Amino acid sequence: MIQTRRIQFIIFCLLIISMQVLVNLEALTTNSGDYGVLVSLKEEWENLPPSWDGSDPCGDPWEGIDCNDNSRVISIKLSSMNLKGELSGDIEGLSELQILDLSYNKGLTGSLPQSIGSLKSLSILILVGCGFSGLIPDTIGSLSQLNFLALNINNFIGPIPASVGNLSKLSWLDLADNRLSGPLPISHGSTPGLDMLVHAKHFHLGRNQFSGEIPDQLFSSNMTLKHLLLEQNKLTGKIPPTLGLVQTLEVVRLDRNSLDGSIPSTLKNLTLTSELFLSNNEFTGPLPNLAGMNDLNYLDMSNNTFSSDDFPRWLSTLQSLTTLVMENTQLQGEIPPTLFSLVQLQTVRLRGNKINGTLDVASNYSSQLKLIDLQNNSIDSFTVRPGYPFQTILMHNPVCYEGSEDYCGVVPKNFGYSTPQDNCHRTQCSSDQIPSPTCKCAYPYTGDLFFRAPSFSDLTNTSIYESLQKSMISSLSRYQELVDSISLSNPEKNSDDYLVLRLQVFPFGQDHFNRTGITTLGFALSNQTFKPPPNFGPFFFNGESYIHFEGGSTGSHKSISKGIIIGAAAAGAILLILSIVVGVLACQKKRAQEAVKKSDPFATWDSVKDSGDVPQLKGVKCFTFEELKKYTNNFSASNYIGSGGYGKVYRGTLPDGQLVAIKRAEQASKQGALEFKTEIEILSRFHHKNVVSLVGFCFRQGEQMLVYEYIPNGSLKEALSGKSGIMLDWKKRLRIALGAARGLQYLHDHVDPPIIHRDIKSNNILLDEHLNAKVGDFGLSKTMNEPDKGYVSTQVKGTMGYMDPEYYTTQQLTEKSDVYSFGVVMLELITARSPIVKGKYIVKEMKQAMDKSKDMYNIGNFVDPAIPSNITPISFRKFVDLALTCLEEAGDNRPTMGEVVKEIENIMEIDGVNSSVESRSTSVSHEGTSGTFDHPYSEESLMRHSGGTNSGKRTNSSPGASQQP
Ligand SMILES: *[C@@H]1O[C@H](CO)[C@@H](O)[C@H](O)[C@H]1NC(C)=O
Ligand SMILES: *[C@@H]1O[C@H](CO)[C@@H](O)[C@H](O)[C@H]1NC(C)=O
Ligand SMILES: *[C@@H]1O[C@H](CO)[C@@H](O)[C@H](O)[C@H]1NC(C)=O
Ligand SMILES: *[C@@H]1O[C@H](CO)[C@@H](O)[C@H](O)[C@H]1NC(C)=O
Repeated sequence: MIQTRRIQFIIFCLLIISMQVLVNLEALTTNSGDYGVLVSLKEEWENLPPSWDGSDPCGDPWEGIDCNDNSRVISIKLSSMNLKGELSGDIEGLSELQILDLSYNKGLTGSLPQSIGSLKSLSILILVGCGFSGLIPDTIGSLSQLNFLALNINNFIGPIPASVGNLSKLSWLDLADNRLSGPLPISHGSTPGLDMLVHAKHFHLGRNQFSGEIPDQLFSSNMTLKHLLLEQNKLTGKIPPTLGLVQTLEVVRLDRNSLDGSIPSTLKNLTLTSELFLSNNEFTGPLPNLAGMNDLNYLDMSNNTFSSDDFPRWLSTLQSLTTLVMENTQLQGEIPPTLFSLVQLQTVRLRGNKINGTLDVASNYSSQLKLIDLQNNSIDSFTVRPGYPFQTILMHNPVCYEGSEDYCGVVPKNFGYSTPQDNCHRTQCSSDQIPSPTCKCAYPYTGDLFFRAPSFSDLTNTSIYESLQKSMISSLSRYQELVDSISLSNPEKNSDDYLVLRLQVFPFGQDHFNRTGITTLGFALSNQTFKPPPNFGPFFFNGESYIHFEGGSTGSHKSISKGIIIGAAAAGAILLILSIVVGVLACQKKRAQEAVKKSDPFATWDSVKDSGDVPQLKGVKCFTFEELKKYTNNFSASNYIGSGGYGKVYRGTLPDGQLVAIKRAEQASKQGALEFKTEIEILSRFHHKNVVSLVGFCFRQGEQMLVYEYIPNGSLKEALSGKSGIMLDWKKRLRIALGAARGLQYLHDHVDPPIIHRDIKSNNILLDEHLNAKVGDFGLSKTMNEPDKGYVSTQVKGTMGYMDPEYYTTQQLTEKSDVYSFGVVMLELITARSPIVKGKYIVKEMKQAMDKSKDMYNIGNFVDPAIPSNITPISFRKFVDLALTCLEEAGDNRPTMGEVVKEIENIMEIDGVNSSVESRSTSVSHEGTSGTFDHPYSEESLMRHSGGTNSGKRTNSSPGASQQP
C-alpha cells in the first residue's frame, strides 16, 4: 500500500513539475521538490490560508511557511488555524525542515506517518492540542537534531518508543495528556531508553496510563533534569532511591499514581527542588525527614498512610515553604507554633489527621498566611489574636463541638480576577467583539494557560497576575506592532492541581489578527519562547482556533492570486459540477427550512438580516441548538451551574472565548412562542453595566434557551450566605446597593417603554468579578405600555417577603413596587437574613425594635456578624432611614429609584468611600465607568494586617459585638 502511495506521489510530483514547465508564466523560485510536498500537504488539509493558492511558497510567500536563501522550506508554523485533515507522509520530502508547529488544530487527526523520521534537520516538533491518535512512530528516534518535542494533548496510545532515547539533543520532552501506556523505557544492551537523555531538562509525562515501576536505572547523576512530571498515571512500586541523584531537579510530581512503600530518605538530597507532589499514592512507613530542602515552596503528601508519633518538627525548618498540604496522612500530635512563623507561608491544609492539643497562632505568624484548614482533627483549643487576617477552618474538631464561631464553618473560596481595564470609557462592543484592557473592541486570540506546579497557593494575591501579565507583554513586545494588550482572568486550581488562567491577546492597531500574527503568537506559546516568572513553574498553553481573520466584516474576500487565475480554466468544469451539487443541496435545505417554518414562528428570523418580521434585536444572536450543545460540552454536568424556576443553567464558552450562562427552559416552564419572543425583545434592549445583558437565544422545537453574559460571582444571596466565600464588608455592601439601584433606575427611567422588574430580590442581583451588582432574571418583568395610566393591572406575581403590600392588595403594579422590594434587599444587606425566617417578617421585626434615639437605632443586633468592624453609625443610620422610606406602606411616599441612587451616593461620601468615580456616571446610563476597578480582594478586608485606613477603630475578637446596644 505504501508502495502505491509512493508511486502516486512521484507521479504527482512529476505532474506538478511538468505543469510548472507548461503553464508557468513566471519562473518559480521555490525548490520544486519542496513545492510538491507542500501541495501534497495542502491536499490533505482544510482551512489553509488563502495565500496557499499561489504557486511559489517561498517567493510569493505562503503564510506559515519560511524558506532559507536557497528557497528550501525550513519552517511550517500553522497553529490555531482550525486546520482539518491528516498529516501526509509526503512531508518526508522537506529535508531541510527545522520547525514544524501545527499546535491547537483539533481537527488534525489520524496517526503520525512513519516517514516523519526522515526529517533529518527537524529540531522542533510541536503538535500540542491536536487530535492525532495511534502509536507514536518508532522512527521518531531518527530525528537526530530534535531538541524540542511536544506531543501533549492528543490521543496517542501505546508505549513511548524506546528510540526516543537516541534523541541525544533533546531538551524538552512533553508527552503529557495522551493515553500512552506501558512502562517507562530504559536502556539495556543496544536498546535505547529515557535514561540516556542526559541533556533533557523536561520530562512532562503526566496524565497518561503509564504502568509498572519507575525504574531505578532511569536516574543518574549525569542527568540535568529540572522538571520530572509523572502525575496522574498508573505507576506502581517504590520511588527509586536513585531519584536523589538528579540534583538539578526543581519540580517533582509523582502524585496520583499507585506508588507504595516508604519514601526514600535520599529525596532530601534534592536541595534545588521547590515543588514536591507525592499525594494520592499508597505510601506507608515513616515520614521522610526533608530538613535541608531549603528551596522547597510547595509540599503535598496528602492521601498516603504514614506512621508518625509526633508532629514532624522538621517541617518548621523548611524556610521557603509557602504551602503545606498533608490531608489524610495520619499525622499526630500538636502543631508547633513555629510552623506558622515561616515567613513565606500562605496555606496549611492538614484536614483528616489526628492532630490534637492547641492550635496556637497567637505569636508570630507569616504575614502571607491566608488559610489554615484543619477540619477533622482532634484540636481542643484555638489561640489567636483578635482580628487575625487569615481564614481558619476547624469544623469537626472538639473545639467546635459546641461553638458556632466563624472558624467552625466552612467558607469555600471563590475568587475572581481579570486584568483591569484602563481608566477609560468603554464603548459598547458589537456582540462578538470583546473590549480589551485598553478599551478597544477587538477579536482577541484566546486560550488557557496551565501552570503545572506553581510555587504559591494564595490565588487572591493580584500582584502575581500582574507580574505574569507584565512578563508576557514584555516577551511578546519583541514582535513589533503585533500585540496591543493582554488580559488574564478566571484563575482556578483544577482537579490536577494545575493553576489555570484564561488568556486573551488583543491585536495591535486593528480589530483582528492576520494569519501570520496568529501563528507567531501560537508558536511563542507552544514553543515556550514566552517564559513566565519562575514562581509559576512549568506551563503549557492550549489555544483555540482563531476565526476572525476577516475582522468585523464578513464579506471581505481574499485577493485573487495568480495561481487561481491559472487554475481557473481547468477548474471551470469542476465548478460547473460543484454548482450543480450546491444547487441541489440548497434546494434540499430550502425544503427543510419550509418544513421547520410551519411549526416554528422564529424560522423566518435571521439574526444577520433585519427583515421586517424580526423585532429589534440589537446585538442579540440566534444560536442553533447544536452550537449551544457544543459550547456547553453537550450540556455536561461539569458545565452545570445551577437551576431556578425557569430550568437549568449551564456555563458555556463561545468560540471567541466569551463565557456565557445558558438558561435552558424545562418542559413545564416553557412559554408560548409569542411570550418567548416578547421576553427576548425586552431583554435585548438592555445595555447597562448594572443589568445582566442578553447575548443570544435559541428557539427550536422543544427548546427555549436564553444566553446571558456570565456573571462569575453568583448572586447576592449566595454572597450574603457566605457560601460563595466572598467577604462583604460595609463599603462593598454600599457599592452593591448602589449598583443594583442604578440598574433598577435604568429600567425605570432610561428604557422606553419603562420596565418594572417585579421580582427584585437578592437571588436576582448578581455580582461580577469586580463585585459590580447586576440586576438579572426578567421572567416576570412587565413593560409599561400605558404610560399615561402610570400602572399596569396584572395578576399578582413575585416572591413572598419582597412583595409590595400595596401591589398585593390593589393589583396595580407601579415602579414603586420595585422600590419596596429594593428596600427589603437593603435590609438584607444589613442583616444577611432572608426576609421571612420561621414565619417572622424581618421588616416588621426591625421596625418594632427600632429606637431612633440610640446610636445604632437599637438594631445593632440585627447586623450581620460577617460585616467587619468598619461600619460607621452615621452611614448605618442613613442607610436604614433610606430602606425604611422604600418600605413605606403607600407607594406615593416611597422615593423613586433615581432618588435612592442619589441618597446611596451621599451615604457613601459620608462614609469616605471613594465614590467620586462612581458618582460621575450617575446620569450616564449607556456607558459604564470602567475605571472603577474595585477588586473584591484588592483592598483592606483580606489584606488588612493591622489597622487599615479607617477600619482600625474596633479590634474586638468577635466582629459586630460592639454594635450591640
Ligand atoms: C554518566 O557518566 C559516567 C562517567 O561520569 C559515564 O561512564 C556514563 O556512561 C554516563 N552515563 C550516561 C548515560 O551518559
Ligand atoms: C547526597 O548528596 C551528597 C552531596 O550533596 C552526596 O555526597 C551523597 O552521596 C548524596 N546521597 C545520595 C544517596 O545521593
Ligand atoms: C485526598 O483524597 C480525597 C478523597 O479522594 C480527595 O477529595 C482530596 O482532594 C484529596 N486531597 C488532596 C490534597 O489531593
Ligand atoms: C496528643 O495525642 C498523643 C497521642 O497520639 C498524646 O500522647 C498526647 O498527649 C496528646 N496531646 C494532647 C495535648 O492531648
